[in-house]
Amino acid sequence: MDRQAILERQRRHLWPNHILYYTEPLPLDRGEGLYVWDVEGNRYLDFFGGILTTSVGHNNPRVTQRIHEQVDKILHTSTLYPHENHVALAEKLAAITPGELDTFYFGTSGTDADETAVILAKVHTGYQEVIALRHGYSGRSPMAMALTGQAPWRIGGTHVVGIKHALNPYCYRCPLKMTYPQCGVACAEDVEETIRTTTSGRIAAFIAEPIQGVGGFITPPPEYFAIVQEIVHRYGGLLIIDEVQTGFGRTGTYWWGIEHSGVVPDVLTMAKGIANGLPLSATATTPELAASMADAGLTISTFGGNPVSLAAALGTLEALHQEAPPERTQVVGDRLRRGLEALQEKYPLIGDVRGRGLMQGVELVVDRSTKEPAPRHVNALFDITRQMGLLIGKGGLYGNVLRIAPPLTATEEHVDEALEKLDQAFARVQEMAL
Ligand SMILES: Cc1ncc(COP(=O)(O)O)c(C=O)c1O
Repeated sequence: MDRQAILERQRRHLWPNHILYYTEPLPLDRGEGLYVWDVEGNRYLDFFGGILTTSVGHNNPRVTQRIHEQVDKILHTSTLYPHENHVALAEKLAAITPGELDTFYFGTSGTDADETAVILAKVHTGYQEVIALRHGYSGRSPMAMALTGQAPWRIGGTHVVGIKHALNPYCYRCPLKMTYPQCGVACAEDVEETIRTTTSGRIAAFIAEPIQGVGGFITPPPEYFAIVQEIVHRYGGLLIIDEVQTGFGRTGTYWWGIEHSGVVPDVLTMAKGIANGLPLSATATTPELAASMADAGLTISTFGGNPVSLAAALGTLEALHQEAPPERTQVVGDRLRRGLEALQEKYPLIGDVRGRGLMQGVELVVDRSTKEPAPRHVNALFDITRQMGLLIGKGGLYGNVLRIAPPLTATEEHVDEALEKLDQAFARVQEMAL
């Protein structure tokens, strides 16, 4: 079916709030490694991986072979019956999660994983209130939207009581108008201020991403989470770290983004890259905390821990270990970072480059001194890079951040190809009077 026919049928039968990238939306047909092809046969270098989800490249044989094998055996069991893949994946994840975070509840999405984490925190602590961060993102259920700290992602109103938002560690636009490191990470203290002034004084949890994904790859200073963890524990809460975007080595050197802070959280959530695109999520915690759920009441996830998704996750983990371990992501990510910083020197439009590993954000501003966001330039750059055969992502509350996050199997050559295309695209956009 051709592009126009797909788009016309989409307009007729799919809700209009489906977000479509590009002025000319792009129906994809197939993928291989770092490349995807649209229905007209055009090839694109994929540097967004379906929102940081195709972690080991498209059509990776280690993943697809396991899926094929499982499909021929049994598609669905429900968690009422133990399954070999269920326990096998839990063991493999336990080998890479920090500290004692070696027990799991499997679900189907990042939203599901974060909801499960908050339920655990409420059950375990007996408290109800939760602190989240401004500019954070937790998903699309009513509670996850209420945890999210960005108005555009809170559709339908989010009147969920007991959720408060602390200032976020957004160094480029510091909410306290201070400069790191002279600030002493003063924003972390706002978590205590928020607890003392807007809650009952006892909290169930604090939830945050190691690098805010949808928020525009906002990267807290390394000391931030250790300061916050001490405060959260002092007020009775659990530290929930959302690794939905940062997990599986994405940030380089370590398997998890939080490890750059030397902090072991109480609960860790993961989804997206876990199964290279099949729906699966997991909430990890210690055996001691998980034990609180034993007599908490009934819960079930019909599709959580689906054997086919689990098979895909087992293949994905094998591929990550063999083809894209965190040390390698660090090396390839460093090359990407250096290239983006070189573009920043060349183009005044680039106000900030931030992130870790293969999760790099580029914030565009109309003027570096006023830092006025440049969302129109982002849109122009998007259409140009699409024409050049490069897919990237965007984000940020002001819609002015490029999110560059290829599958972790990206090579130095892929990075160079992307940087060259970005260079050409920036040269054109920098000249536009937008
Ligand atoms: C950090 C983070 N948490 C949670 C979610 C929600 O995940 P899902 O869309 O799978 O429900 C997302 C999705 O983008 C995310 O980036």
